[in-house]
Amino acid sequence: DINQKVESLLSQMTIEEKVGQMNLYNGFWDVTGPAPEEGNAALKYDHLKKGWVGAMLTVRGAEEVRKVQRIAVEESRLGIPLLIGFDVIHGYKTLSPIPLAESASWDLQAIEKSARVAATEASASGINWTFAPMVDISRDARWGRVMEGAGEDPYLGSLIAKARVNGFQGDDLSAHNTIAACAKHFAAYGFAEAGRDYNVADIGNGTLYNTVLPPFKAASEAGVKTFMNSFNTLNGVPVTGSSFLQRDILKRDWNFDGFVVSDWASINEMIPWGHAKDKRQAAQIAANAGSDMDMEGYVYIQELAQLVKDGVVKESILDDAVRRILKVKFELGLFEDPYRYCDDDREKEWTYHESYREAVLDMAKKSIVLLKNDNNLLPLKKNGQTIALIGDLADDKSSPLGSWRIASDDDTAVSVLEGMSSYKGNTLNFSRGPEVFEGTSTFLQEVKINTTDTSGFDEAIATAKAADVVVMVLGEHGFQSGEGRSRTNLDLPGLQQELLEEVYKVNPNVVLVLNNGRPLAIEWASEHIPAIVEAWHLGTESGNAIANVLYGDYNPSGKLPMSFPRNVGQAPIYYNNYPTGRPTDKDGNVFWSHYTDVEKTPLYPFGHGLSYTTFEYSNLKVTNTYKENQEVKVSFTLKNTGALKGKEVAQLYIRDLVGSVIRPLKELKGFELIELEAGASKTVEFVLTKKELGFYTNQGEFVVESGDFKVFVGGDSNAELEQGFTLE
Ligand code: IFM
Repeated sequence: DINQKVESLLSQMTIEEKVGQMNLYNGFWDVTGPAPEEGNAALKYDHLKKGWVGAMLTVRGAEEVRKVQRIAVEESRLGIPLLIGFDVIHGYKTLSPIPLAESASWDLQAIEKSARVAATEASASGINWTFAPMVDISRDARWGRVMEGAGEDPYLGSLIAKARVNGFQGDDLSAHNTIAACAKHFAAYGFAEAGRDYNVADIGNGTLYNTVLPPFKAASEAGVKTFMNSFNTLNGVPVTGSSFLQRDILKRDWNFDGFVVSDWASINEMIPWGHAKDKRQAAQIAANAGSDMDMEGYVYIQELAQLVKDGVVKESILDDAVRRILKVKFELGLFEDPYRYCDDDREKEWTYHESYREAVLDMAKKSIVLLKNDNNLLPLKKNGQTIALIGDLADDKSSPLGSWRIASDDDTAVSVLEGMSSYKGNTLNFSRGPEVFEGTSTFLQEVKINTTDTSGFDEAIATAKAADVVVMVLGEHGFQSGEGRSRTNLDLPGLQQELLEEVYKVNPNVVLVLNNGRPLAIEWASEHIPAIVEAWHLGTESGNAIANVLYGDYNPSGKLPMSFPRNVGQAPIYYNNYPTGRPTDKDGNVFWSHYTDVEKTPLYPFGHGLSYTTFEYSNLKVTNTYKENQEVKVSFTLKNTGALKGKEVAQLYIRDLVGSVIRPLKELKGFELIELEAGASKTVEFVLTKKELGFYTNQGEFVVESGDFKVFVGGDSNAELEQGFTLE
């Protein structure tokens, strides 16, 4: 069995070879050219031959992977194959919506399928390990990486984490189209202070245990093979050096038997953090804390063998790490056939495979959230109308691909202009308006925004004036969110707000289509613009998905996975907040928990999303048999009260009214995506057990406390239909 094979191999390994397995290098040379002879590339090449590299990242394509794999397998002493890692975040070349957008679908099967599509395409190019899913809960839209996660809620986030792990890994990790997944970033990276990337995270245990950790735990329970730690501290300790997280919680309490990879040089970053005085100490702290693999930090490879020889790090620490790493390699089937993911024919056949288009289109449609639709401005009529399509983003074929798309090709998305042009019954007039995003944007650079040049305004206004309906595609460029993209301003970038207001003056029939990787503060639009469609960055089929929704060929059913603030000053804002000791202004003075300038509620709450039909919730019943068989049954009736068939994400929240540790005002504890014909209704049932009714204390103990609870059901986190029950 695998464990025996691992032990047998381990027993043959030198300390240096063990350290080598714990070493992950970034790709370093054009394998079609000669082998590197000098500099860092030559060093890496030499290490590959010595068996001092356990894994590589950003090496991709069957040919390239085969070449590096061949060195590891045929030239090193023990011939241990490499893991080939890559950031397959929302697709490889064919792109699905960004993960935050996918999460808005609340459709776990679709999300799992999307991860499988990504794994299929990536594995055909030699990749056997993805650095996904990112399962960081975040409540702060200023943080650019919210685009990569599942939003603000640990319950939804946990189910999505599981779906993504299952999608990437499948039932058989050694199959050609499955790859090892990686739950990241462990932990609390989403709580970077003030939304500034790479910052400290200072949070209490309640938040850690109840909000941050559950999706990681869910990923671990789903059998995720690897974890990645992160760049932040947790309460003063860089998490890369945190034994508490990696050894106590992950490997001891959760029994996780995969391995932990550092984030890019995050072991080294303990030096500027002021937690390690030099590389040697950084290596010592990280290895002892349970970071099993060093990503492009050169710290383990330089320091670890000597640390073991000096008796500062026990060899058993190395053995534990190497066992974990080798096990994943065996499970992937790499020892049987190290080249199983590098078949040129397979790559040719499965790259940009036609079947993916349908899958990512389906996912994109499901990810769209209809935020507002006054007077049924949407769907658009299919004939006889003049439509003005306005916005720099409307004919962009790269931005909709979103951030984190390292392998994809620019200009491969369907633009909104293209998508809408395929509906022939109307007259479609496009006007760009002012250029908002200057030059070509890349993954590595800041996006340049035009804030002064207003040319394009006049034409856009004239086009709008002559139209029956105006569709404006506004928002963030795809590379304005993602890693290193924190913002202190959540408004529409550049001159877009001005453009929106000017267009609205001449034609108020505006449909605002938002492109963005995070919640935006669109208070003015929400007050004035009759229809708002949240279209995120939807990937390759973006424009078709948007056109399908605008024209009513797809009835939207997405729901927000993050609250939308009224303005940036509300951040962090989240629905499952606490009551406070002064929740209302009952005394008629200012001394209550509020802001003096805006409401404390979000502009659009978590879970919000409209349809072209309407739904009604009624008949809520709670049957409490917790005392006898630890179950509380909840049922209610959901009715489609509109004129169209549609889908609704019926949501169930609870509130534990009195707790030894205060409990949130609402907590999502169940949801179901339900499709109903016009006029049809359904009885929806949920069962609440210990798992849903309990919580973690500040000591990390899971408890269910007796007392009064409330259940709420509805179509968003404002869910108002409620019923109480008591746990004895
Ligand atoms: O996987 C990523 C991580 O999320 C951020 N730093 C770099 C890694 C590898 O690209």
